[in-house]
Amino acid sequence: MNGEPAVLLQGDKKAGRALLFEPGRIGGVRLPNRVVMPSMTTRAADPDGFVTEGSLAYYRARAVGGVGLVTVEMASPEKAGRHRFNELGIYDDRFLPGLKRLAAAIHDAGAKAAIQLGHGGGHTRRDICGEDPVAPSAIPHPVFEGHLETIIPQEMSPARITECVSAFAAAFARAADAGFDAAEIHAAHGYLVSQFLCPAENRRDDDYGGSLENRARFALEIVRACKERRPEMALIFRLNGDDYFPAGMPAEEALQVSVWAAAAGADAIHVTGGHYRSQPSAAVMIPPMDMGYGPFLKFAKMIREAVPVPVIAVGRLGDPEVAARALEEGCADFVALGRPLLADPDWVAKVGSGKPIRTCLGCNTCVDEMRAGHPLHCLVNPTTGREQGYQDDGGPRNERIAVIGAGPAGLTYAGLAGTRNQVTLFERTPSAGGSFNRVSAAPLFQNVRPEAYSFAAFIRSLEEICDQSGVERRYGVNPLKDLAQLAGYDRIVVASGATYRWGLGGLVSGLLASGLLRKTPLRQLAESERFRHWFYYKARRRQESLLSTVRKLGVTVEVIGDAKSPGKSKEAIRNAFEAALGVSA
Ligand SMILES: Cc1cc2nc3c(=O)[nH]c(=O)nc-3n(C[C@H](O)[C@H](O)[C@H](O)COP(=O)(O)O)c2cc1C
Ligand code: SF4
Repeated sequence: MNGEPAVLLQGDKKAGRALLFEPGRIGGVRLPNRVVMPSMTTRAADPDGFVTEGSLAYYRARAVGGVGLVTVEMASPEKAGRHRFNELGIYDDRFLPGLKRLAAAIHDAGAKAAIQLGHGGGHTRRDICGEDPVAPSAIPHPVFEGHLETIIPQEMSPARITECVSAFAAAFARAADAGFDAAEIHAAHGYLVSQFLCPAENRRDDDYGGSLENRARFALEIVRACKERRPEMALIFRLNGDDYFPAGMPAEEALQVSVWAAAAGADAIHVTGGHYRSQPSAAVMIPPMDMGYGPFLKFAKMIREAVPVPVIAVGRLGDPEVAARALEEGCADFVALGRPLLADPDWVAKVGSGKPIRTCLGCNTCVDEMRAGHPLHCLVNPTTGREQGYQDDGGPRNERIAVIGAGPAGLTYAGLAGTRNQVTLFERTPSAGGSFNRVSAAPLFQNVRPEAYSFAAFIRSLEEICDQSGVERRYGVNPLKDLAQLAGYDRIVVASGATYRWGLGGLVSGLLASGLLRKTPLRQLAESERFRHWFYYKARRRQESLLSTVRKLGVTVEVIGDAKSPGKSKEAIRNAFEAALGVSA
């Protein structure tokens, strides 16, 4: 892992974005463009698994944003396979009314709708699903859902396997009855079907274990049973291009399973990667920024050359250039954008009309918090998961606004407020970015290794959004040294960050510049939760003298981000959104 872009895409040729907007086809379903939203667990369902107004608003926002196919999050075909609290239900007809509303909401917004059928297998617990978890073999499975607990699931008998295959087919038919255009069989990431495929987790010596042919039998029986039940319904088969650990399923086997799945009736192969047992960590399946752009493209390309059906690629493809190149270089027929659509639900519409997007950092805050038990949110876009709360109808209008500080909070505020106000963004240093310019020297950002390329792309995207909104950017100007610069504004927004207590600023800068914080023993200290909490919340304070200077100007003053209350970037950016949009969700 080194944060470099994927090898396949290192040429300097500019890709034609038009390819992203060509219609495509999966089975009998015609898609308006080549962008797919992959399955992402939201926890927006109610505790029993029923669709909520929150679920509808979340998916509607992505469909309105122009994505061709929305894949609704993992829903288990059996109660025993529910892998998270508040997981969406599809294992019984009583879920049909809600699922119908969900499919209709996606269709009404102009997208096609799919739903992922995924069974947790050994990767769940009795307290989550209410039944004894089942798996190909009774081996220990560490399960992190709110807390970590290792369980030993029941080994499935051949009769139990047949029952489960039937449950998949019934759920597939239920998805069709609900109005979905397609359903995706989740055979990746270490859940039940992937557990059968994975040599380390499948220790059976019957027809379902041992050789690859036997390990793939369960998956292929599911594909055939689903297609026999509803031949007209498109079926997408999602598998790992590689499990990323020595005893996992390797790429050559993934290639063979893909060929078999297509022959068994799959209408598309969706190639992801990573497993709960991956090395260096389970984070591989949702590649953090230090895996670079497009880490799974090599697997998608290899599989695409071998199967007669379309291939969907996924994994850090949110840079429009990277997404277009993935298609142009023949890695895939469709690109799936997960986190990029959390960061900016309008990605497709904006890229299609040449507008800038809010880019995903690859910080994995969304998934880390979700796995810890929280609803789905995004660090750079607090409206995600709160679509109903952020109605975007408040905030200042038709004002002249001076924003002081072009760090993440100031840039975010200026870009949002600039659409309906006349905004000037002042930054005393020659460039924007604030703390994000130095963060790649720290050992961690949230829970991932920070990489400069990702923060630079994010800051650039915010600057482009500001330009699009008509914001005047004035860098290398400190209006607090020359207050005349602030004359004539209706509102001054202070986003100048916090200051270090006890003269720590010089020490922190020195340590970051020296690289010592990324080396032992300081690294251990800097990575510890206690130290980080102290660093963010206690070691810094508001710049009171600056605030009192600005308040004396006699205009409306708003203080946002760290300048308001030192903390983490997530809070600062959320605060910027709320100030600009006039909401508190
Ligand atoms: C919060 C979150 C939840 C996810 N849940 C699922 C899931 O339920 N099923 C699945 O197959 N993948 C899941 N994924 C993985 C995504 O589908 C996707 O493969 C991954 O995020 C990489 O794509 P991206 O770089 O475009 O985000 C999840 C990802 C995130 C961020
Ligand atoms: S939380 Fe981070 S990784 Fe997740 S979508 Fe937002 S920016 Fe991307």
